Amino acid sequence: MESQISFIFCSIFFSFTFLFSFFSLLIFLLRLKFGCSCEICQAFLSSRWSKDFDNLCDWYTHLLRKSPTGTIHIHVLRNTITANPANVEHILKTRFDNYPKGKPFSAILGDLLGKGIFNVDGESWNFQRKMASLELGSVSIRLYAFELVKMEIQTRLIPLLSSFARNGDVLDMQDVFRRFSFDNICKFSFGIDPGCLNLSLPISKLAVAFDTASKLSAERALAASPIIWKTKRLLNLGSEKQLKEAIKMVNQLADEVINHRRKMGFSDKNDLLSRFMASVNDDNYLRDIVISFLLAGRDTVASGLTSFFWLLSQSPEVESAIQDELDRIIGPNQELEGFESMKELHYLHAALYESMRLFPPVQFDSKFAKDDDVLPDGTFVRGGTRVTYHQYAMGRMERVWGSDSMEFKPERWLENGKFVQQNPFKYPVFQAGLRVCLGKEMAVMEMKCVAAALLRRFHIRVADPIQAPRFIPGLTATVRGGLPVVVEEREV
Ligand code: HEM
Repeated sequence: MESQISFIFCSIFFSFTFLFSFFSLLIFLLRLKFGCSCEICQAFLSSRWSKDFDNLCDWYTHLLRKSPTGTIHIHVLRNTITANPANVEHILKTRFDNYPKGKPFSAILGDLLGKGIFNVDGESWNFQRKMASLELGSVSIRLYAFELVKMEIQTRLIPLLSSFARNGDVLDMQDVFRRFSFDNICKFSFGIDPGCLNLSLPISKLAVAFDTASKLSAERALAASPIIWKTKRLLNLGSEKQLKEAIKMVNQLADEVINHRRKMGFSDKNDLLSRFMASVNDDNYLRDIVISFLLAGRDTVASGLTSFFWLLSQSPEVESAIQDELDRIIGPNQELEGFESMKELHYLHAALYESMRLFPPVQFDSKFAKDDDVLPDGTFVRGGTRVTYHQYAMGRMERVWGSDSMEFKPERWLENGKFVQQNPFKYPVFQAGLRVCLGKEMAVMEMKCVAAALLRRFHIRVADPIQAPRFIPGLTATVRGGLPVVVEEREV
């Protein structure tokens, strides 16, 4: 018996040792193949940058500021990174056909997103884009989204904060915003309510599975080479095994919803799934389309709100300007009721845009060049390599935003008190050009409603406002340690 146990232990030990050696050798060979002795690549490979910078994005920002063209090249990653608006316009609009998402990206998210809009190029993207633009552009869906958001705020968000205000307990606002936006995007996309913001309920299976699946899919991008995660997937090991299980769960739940909707009828429903059912018969394709919306619309909104409340904690004058506007537009001590008055909140709109300039929810975004090309700043891009536009760095470049680029100044978005959009290629927070975010209006509406409702009723004091956010690597900016706050009810 004893010898059997030691045999099993030895086998496990040797399997792990073998795998460890295999991956180490692989990384070593990759370094040899793409090896580069330049200072930037060496700092990247040895993680030396982390001595001086909290976040990789801050290091890239530093390098991009120093570069005369606003473009750098990380040779070992075969990645050209730019913060130059003329290059961004070239990639996202002028030579759009040469810069698809490409196979390496769609492979990373492919198991979770399938052929959903977020993950495809060409005909399939074109078809979904047209269909989705038509639906999302309609007045009826905007009003539907507004009513959903209002309901979630009134029946869940405000009662939750009130209870924390009564108890004086510390609350993690990042977690609250993630739960809030998951409830909303599920209701909007699927017509189902996972009830995540209801803290007394166990967190829904869908939320847990979806969280695991998106986190582990994003981690694939951090592997030194795709061969690493592909080998783990082949052998059904570790994180790849977990990912497979989480995706299976997401698929099962999505299939249940689709089957149920087919049985019950969908023509009188307003959610996206029901709307798409009118034009798509293939249930797998329907699943893929709707899961893309879940991914696109969930963490982005939560991330935008988290940094906004952190920035407000540093800028009381901005908070009081928002309060003044709320008094003026919706009246002292009144709640935001109508869609039209929400559109009149120009200062709040500007403050949210300004906050996402400094803390974009999507910090960078990559494409793959099909053929060799030359960017407007003269940078040569080799076909088959990666090109990244860096939203986070762009918001912090003096040459793009002026000498006050690091200041939180909503006024820079206002002309005669009205919000004025800037060149989208200098602010590609929602991407820009032909693939600009489809949920932009909905996202801003959601953020405005939450900010207005919370600032009206509560003093939200960030527990440690001095601590600048440090981010966890992933698809969307997530603050390490969350945003702990203390909430107090305002005197009315
Ligand atoms: C503050 C919130 C948001 C930000 C900052 C944001 C940003 C972005 C960015 C940068 C992209 C391009 C990603 C890429 O191609 O790799 C994108 C695409 C997209 N977004 Fe958003 N997004 C937000 C909210 C939303 C919401 C709420 C929805 C859904 C209702 C949504 C739906 C989409 C879709 C469907 C795409 C894919 C468009 C396409 O490929 O044609 N987004 N978004």
